[in-house]
Amino acid sequence: MRHLRDRREFMAGLAGAGGALAAGSWLPGTAQAQGRAPARAIAQRARSRAEMDRRLLGAFLEHLGRAIYTGVYEPGSKLADGKGFRRDVLAEIKGLGVPIMRYPGGNFVSGYNWLDGVGPKDKRPTVLERAWNSLETNQFGTNDFIDWCRLVGTEPLLGFNLGTGTPEQAVAYVEYCNVDKGTKWSDLRREHGYEAPHNVKYWCLGNEMDGPWQMGTMPAREYGRKARDSARQIRVVDPTTQLIACGSSNTILPTYLVWDREVLEECYDQVDGISLHNYYGNTPALTGGDTSRYLAMNLDMERQIQEIAAVCDYVQGVRKSPKRLWLSFDEWNVWYRARGGTFSNGQRKFAPPLLEEVYNLEDALLIGGFVNTLLRQARRVRVGCLAQIVNVIAPLVTNETSVLRQSIYYPYAWSLKYARGRVLDLLVDGETYPIKAAGLRPDFARDDVVPYVDVAATLDPGSGQLALFILNRDLQAERELVLDCRDFTPTRVLASETLTGTDLKASNTFDRPTLVAPRPLEAPRPASTMTFKLPARSYSVVHIATS
Ligand code: AHR
Repeated sequence: MRHLRDRREFMAGLAGAGGALAAGSWLPGTAQAQGRAPARAIAQRARSRAEMDRRLLGAFLEHLGRAIYTGVYEPGSKLADGKGFRRDVLAEIKGLGVPIMRYPGGNFVSGYNWLDGVGPKDKRPTVLERAWNSLETNQFGTNDFIDWCRLVGTEPLLGFNLGTGTPEQAVAYVEYCNVDKGTKWSDLRREHGYEAPHNVKYWCLGNEMDGPWQMGTMPAREYGRKARDSARQIRVVDPTTQLIACGSSNTILPTYLVWDREVLEECYDQVDGISLHNYYGNTPALTGGDTSRYLAMNLDMERQIQEIAAVCDYVQGVRKSPKRLWLSFDEWNVWYRARGGTFSNGQRKFAPPLLEEVYNLEDALLIGGFVNTLLRQARRVRVGCLAQIVNVIAPLVTNETSVLRQSIYYPYAWSLKYARGRVLDLLVDGETYPIKAAGLRPDFARDDVVPYVDVAATLDPGSGQLALFILNRDLQAERELVLDCRDFTPTRVLASETLTGTDLKASNTFDRPTLVAPRPLEAPRPASTMTFKLPARSYSVVHIATS
């Protein structure tokens, strides 16, 4: 979505697109009749932003709290299969169609010895895990994760311990996973019952190494050299790997952007991508507790992507390198209530309930906004991971007998179901509202005004299907979006749903599991110009066949 500076630019866009549509020809509707001008979007098949990589819509599974144990793995449970995997959770994640899953952490990875989690289960040690102060039995490890990934139909994205770990251990890990046979570590994998190599392609070179909370945290140049050294050796073992350097963990650390520049100055030639992380919340410091400001936070994510991309391009320019790095936004979500203190301290227990954030309607609307941002930035962001997938800051939550879909499940599920093919470069024009305020954290709410309607679209060249993802940030009123398709014609509305409600703080519970759930959205007749009526406080998806 490109928001145009003024109406003149929009009209120029109309003319440039060869359109005969005059401003007066936009269809009137309820919202317009009430004095709110509709937002307008021009879509052209010929104008796309990027071919999206499905990995953009991945997720994350860490050895943290109840994510693994009682989340995906619970031997002894009636819900477990022969390998101890929770069948209900497996079916949910398989049903979602998550394309890539990051594992095993997170902060956890920076103290992890991958060797503890492979081989006969009765020989695996129970260790005191120091990122979350929990007991780790290692009953679930790399091979178990790979088995689970194959069942779920997702691609593994593994992380190295570059905190307390060494390049030597990282290289051994790749050899264990990806070399066929005839070497120390590949033969060990075979001994463990896995003849065929796992062929893991995507790897994270550590986790949040800029963070003072991280085990083994170090200055940027030191990390950059460690990443470079590891990457060089890894490429000898498996030249086909795609390696992701640790970028800044958030936008508030004083090292933000400088870290990324210095790291890349050390390892640009050896890596393929760099990571971004951020978590968002409707807090006094970030939004002043104001939901209309909160719902604009995906635009902060968008700025972060642009800033990190600019650093990558700066280093590329200085090095005169032909290689352009891609971005891996491999941790993003709302996370602000179940944070710090007892929420993050496992108190030496096994599978303690940590970071169990309860999500409400407004969180789900913002998650929709993040999906829109990721789609719009798909040219640069190749990998994205919703953090996380089950029990820990997650769309899915388990109890002993079932699995619950939290509110944020729905926008994420829609993106996985409908976003396909090319992301369109929509020309969008619409009314805005102010969000600036004094006294907020300086890295958020940096726009003076933001649009009420936030829209992203994909068009699948194979099937010709168009998917529209629309956030209406107006808390009070319905808004309209007039879509003008220039070089293709909508022929049939295949699906049209919205997530909305009167109580922005409503959440699903095991007793009331569908309090926040999609409902049908009245769709207009398919035509070159369509007017969508978007309920106040809503995120909607419309899936349309086109010719
Ligand atoms: O996802 C929870 C934690 O947030 C991760 O372990 C860490 O990487 C981040 O700080």
